[in-house]
Amino acid sequence: MRPDLLQNLATRIAERERAGLLRRARTLDAADGMRVTISGRDLLNFCSNDYLGLARDPRIIKALRNAANECGVSSTAAHLVCGHYREHARLEEVLCEWTGREAALLFSSGWLANLGAMQALLDRHCTCVQDKLNHASLLDAAQLAGAALKRYPHNDTEGAARQLENAGENPALLATDGVFSMGGDIAPLRELASLCKREGATLMVDDAHGLGVLGGRGAGSVNAAGLSQEDVPVLMATLGKSLGCMGAFVAGSRALIEGLTQFARTFVYTTAMPPALAAAACEAVRIAREEDWRRDKLRALIARFREGAAQLGLPLMDSATAIQPIVLGDAEHAVAASRTLEDGGFLVTAIRPPTVPAGKARLRITLSAAHGASDVDRLLEALAQLPRHAIA
Ligand SMILES: Cc1ncc(COP(=O)(O)O)c(C=O)c1O
Repeated sequence: MRPDLLQNLATRIAERERAGLLRRARTLDAADGMRVTISGRDLLNFCSNDYLGLARDPRIIKALRNAANECGVSSTAAHLVCGHYREHARLEEVLCEWTGREAALLFSSGWLANLGAMQALLDRHCTCVQDKLNHASLLDAAQLAGAALKRYPHNDTEGAARQLENAGENPALLATDGVFSMGGDIAPLRELASLCKREGATLMVDDAHGLGVLGGRGAGSVNAAGLSQEDVPVLMATLGKSLGCMGAFVAGSRALIEGLTQFARTFVYTTAMPPALAAAACEAVRIAREEDWRRDKLRALIARFREGAAQLGLPLMDSATAIQPIVLGDAEHAVAASRTLEDGGFLVTAIRPPTVPAGKARLRITLSAAHGASDVDRLLEALAQLPRHAIA
């Protein structure tokens, strides 16, 4: 008899539940900066990606409102039909200026940008070499594009070199997160760029967590590494993290962007992001570039947190960015720690497999320029109260 697909799904859900790995969305009733309300309880949020504290900036909200009054809510069509407004064109220009790229193309999310870029660039004759801790969207995109996906140990340039050698004469894309989403550490971008140059491979960097936070004027991890468009021909970043908006873009040469415009199916066959959102993102970029104090404040909070956590003997990761995970090992421990923190008034979601490798469940603590020093101190006090066996 033919197996029932919904029954298969139910079996997998039951397995996940037995392993304590079931996921549930929490409903936020209200949010005000880093303060959120869930089920009537006020919590201090330490797990959003709003690293610069822009998600509720009144200037960005005003830009969204004004543009919505002018252009409405929906773009009503794909970019190539009649959904491409002057707000989108302006945002693409601004993103090019910021990242030092010739051209840029907007996508409705980071997932769609990675998928579109890889489907346009790769086919079954190509090899895609990737860090094994890359974001799921990069790993899945290479497979969905039909390329041979070859992973290398985390941040291991020699491992990447071996995979490229094994690929022989195949056209090859090497893709890495700029800042790793679950560890906060930065990829060895200069080494990877030299490797790609030597091996004739194309380098793609997903800077979802670096843009706005690292580099001169927040231009990202690639800028911080002093790499040009020639070194990193495919640069992708999102608008939904440090910029506090939603959406993403790929930037690079005019030839790359023309190729994506023609062949990136997740660009061609989808409704363009609302023009009002593009106007909001434009304002967010302006603020992110101009207000260095946000990065300075974030850096000071990161240093304060790391110093305090080290004094408490917490197992910090090697991260200089806003992502400061504390690996607790068992999923059960991570969930228990997250619950205890919540009882104390903090929202820090536990990150469990398969998002992170088995045995590496963690509290993914994120800091933001919207936090105050006293918020960080309070979090440290709460972390100090966690049972030691959960941490060791
Ligand atoms: C490194 C990385 N790339 C891509 C994405 C996907 O971006 P989006 O949330 O805009 O789909 C994320 C996060 O969600 C990410 O962390």
